[in-house]
Amino acid sequence: MASDSSQAIEIRKLGTDGIELIREIDRSEHIDTLYTVKESGLLAESVDFDVPPWDSEGHGDHSSARRITEFRPIVDGGATLLGAFVDDVLAGIAIVDQSFEDGIAWFAFLHVSRGFRRRGVASALWVAGVEVAASAGANAVYVSATPSGSAVGFYTSRGCKLAEEPHPALFAKEPEDIHLICPLP
Ligand SMILES: CC(C)(COP(=O)(O)OP(=O)(O)OC[C@H]1O[C@@H](n2cnc3c(N)ncnc32)[C@H](O)[C@@H]1OP(=O)(O)O)[C@@H](O)C(=O)NCCC(=O)NCCS
Repeated sequence: MASDSSQAIEIRKLGTDGIELIREIDRSEHIDTLYTVKESGLLAESVDFDVPPWDSEGHGDHSSARRITEFRPIVDGGATLLGAFVDDVLAGIAIVDQSFEDGIAWFAFLHVSRGFRRRGVASALWVAGVEVAASAGANAVYVSATPSGSAVGFYTSRGCKLAEEPHPALFAKEPEDIHLICPLP
């Protein structure tokens, strides 16, 4: 577990087998805010519950195995897998599909392990992902964000706004998510 918030964050582009590193992520989190989309925009609601770590043994909905099965085809299909490391220890993972749609990249996955949060790890992954997206010709990044305070707080802090027209397939898959778009400079 990281102990010093001044430690350097190293971002590495990983090969497709790096997807197995998802097993090392501690996704657990205490959630105190959930967002919904209303006509007036984002509405925050106070909540109080804990999200446990992914199940490391089984293959159910909340297992790391399921996450790997879900995202491996995306990475095998050419999306970029990025790892953030602090002193050679995995702190976070992001997947950006830079060729999602004409001019639009999809930030498909972003998780920072609990012990490394709030020290700029996701920000460093975002910068690297945006670079990949822009190099591939994207002028915007689409995110289907978990409605939690941390996820929505993070993406809005990066300049993402509510998507006026949510992507039909991504919205159908995750209707409770907050669908965001971030124009690239
Ligand atoms: C969302 C998440 C990726 C943020 O990672 P992180 O490394 O802690 O983020 P950073 O340290 O780069 O934060 C940058 C900014 O994002 C915003 N932010 C981050 N965490 C936040 C939180 N819990 N509540 C509100 N805003 C938050 C803040 O503006 C923060 O800047 P600050 O620390 O100077 O205030 C991380 O909390 C996480 O992995 N959560 C569980 C998984 C998840 O929800 N992933 C997104 C799925 S779509």
